[in-house]
Amino acid sequence: MNLESTYLGLPLRSPLVASPSPATGRLDSLVELEAAGVGAVVLPSLFEEEVEAEAITFLERMEAGSGVFGEATDYFPDVDLDHLGLERHILLVEEAATRLSVPVIASVNGRSAGGWVRYARDLVAAGARAIELNMYDVAVDAEASGADVERAYLDLVSAVRAAVDVPVAVKLSPYFSSFAHYAPQVVEAGADGLVLFNRFYQPDLDLETLDVTPRLELSRPGELRLPLRWIAILRPRLPDTSLALTSGVASGADIAKGLLAGADVVMTASEVLRQGPGRAAAMLEELVQWMSSHDYESVDQLRGSVAQHAAENPGAYERAQYQRVLSSWRR
Ligand SMILES: Cc1cc2nc3c(=O)[nH]c(=O)nc-3n(C[C@H](O)[C@H](O)[C@H](O)COP(=O)(O)O)c2cc1C
Repeated sequence: MNLESTYLGLPLRSPLVASPSPATGRLDSLVELEAAGVGAVVLPSLFEEEVEAEAITFLERMEAGSGVFGEATDYFPDVDLDHLGLERHILLVEEAATRLSVPVIASVNGRSAGGWVRYARDLVAAGARAIELNMYDVAVDAEASGADVERAYLDLVSAVRAAVDVPVAVKLSPYFSSFAHYAPQVVEAGADGLVLFNRFYQPDLDLETLDVTPRLELSRPGELRLPLRWIAILRPRLPDTSLALTSGVASGADIAKGLLAGADVVMTASEVLRQGPGRAAAMLEELVQWMSSHDYESVDQLRGSVAQHAAENPGAYERAQYQRVLSSWRR
């Protein structure tokens, strides 16, 4: 069975990619993911706030020491504070790029335009073969219109695109009022690939402490359907753009669905966190079983074959699906 795939112009041995999560944040589990057959790995995002927070902690510790011994700060060599929190990410990229033979993709989530560009450059210099821009952002500024927010994202994509000489993928949220209109603009701005979709995490309220508590729930298989629909809609419209599906991928059947809808690669995080990196091998084996029982010889043969259904008249197709779904309910 030929699983060879291409993503962001990079030849991959399989269409399953490890999405950013703690499982891609350690060298040992990265090695296990590679042994399990993934085609590429995306490392956890470097957050600008994380870099800044580490620099502040470092400064505070230095100042705490300086009150005790006058010369204490002299013990520290000249440190570029900006690069302190960065160091861990750089090191992981360097180690992963040296140790793995599959492509290592680095992810960035900046706060300032300069941050996105600077960190993307640093990660590429460390050996990242591509950059994934993690556009996780909850637009809470009541002064900013939808068009303002969309424009700001496009400017960031252009700025990073101009700053690095490796492919750039953009991980987007599904919350755009006209995604079929916006997605091509992201490509126009310089994205080589789109990663659909970012999952949004909603904090909860603790009724005892009245604290807002972070609550991270791993995805469920039904979450696959949203990116599946949008990959199928966009595939015919963006024939030359890499499309990656993320959310709810937990089996070989899910990989097959993603490819049929037109994804170049299918990403997984939650399932690997639940079952361990070795689960990737079982998922690929399930894909191979399904393909051979349906007479496919390569993933290229199935890629995008279902997207065509949605291509001719996507509006009518979506309306028909909506009506079918409503009338399919049985007590
Ligand atoms: C614990 C955890 C950490 C994650 N960290 C990141 C991250 O740093 N950057 C990112 O773009 N996505 C991150 N994600 C999102 C995943 O990469 C993935 O897109 C999302 O979980 C949906 O895929 P899944 O259903 O296979 O989990 C994280 C997910 C989990 C569960």
